[in-house]
Amino acid sequence: MKQLELKYSFDALEPYIDALTMETHYSKHHKTYTDNLINAIVNNNQLQNRSIEDLLTNLDKLPKEVQATIRNNGGGYYNHNLFFDILSPNPSKNPSNDLLNQINKDFGSFENLKNELINAGLSQFGSGWAWLVKDENKNLKVIKTANQDTPLELGLSPILGIDVWEHGYYLKYKNLRKDYLVNIFEVIDWNKVEEYYNK
Ligand SMILES: [Fe+2]
Repeated sequence: MKQLELKYSFDALEPYIDALTMETHYSKHHKTYTDNLINAIVNNNQLQNRSIEDLLTNLDKLPKEVQATIRNNGGGYYNHNLFFDILSPNPSKNPSNDLLNQINKDFGSFENLKNELINAGLSQFGSGWAWLVKDENKNLKVIKTANQDTPLELGLSPILGIDVWEHGYYLKYKNLRKDYLVNIFEVIDWNKVEEYYNK
């Protein structure tokens, strides 16, 4: 398990995400999730040899004593790896190809999808995530989860995750979660989302 290496500097997503938020989010919050996950499985070869996707998909079958740690910190590790990966200072701001076709089929338009994601993030009470996920037939859906819970345990693969924990926006946006949700689309790279869709 390894924390995703950032391909951009902490201030690269300004003004949409401020440098201090990025630095704290990546170097403190995400690092802590990663360290806690590694510590939880360091003495268990069997768990270490499994992928994070496998562990999170099969949470209920894991040994009781590591279940909560893997749900919370393994979830935090996995979710943030995806989140930081799909953000870019030079994003492709519109989906294309198969992904665009599927978005039009499942949501009617890209604009509708964006609104659904914003509403999912706004209506998530407390901490959590808004997701664009694909099912096994590559159909798309917008869902939300609480805390660091992932779509994987629901049998769904996330291709885009928007962090709505206050640690992701509060320094700049304070209580205005909607402004954060609207602005984050300025730095979401749909080429990257498409890569996850095609995986
Ligand atoms: Fe976060």
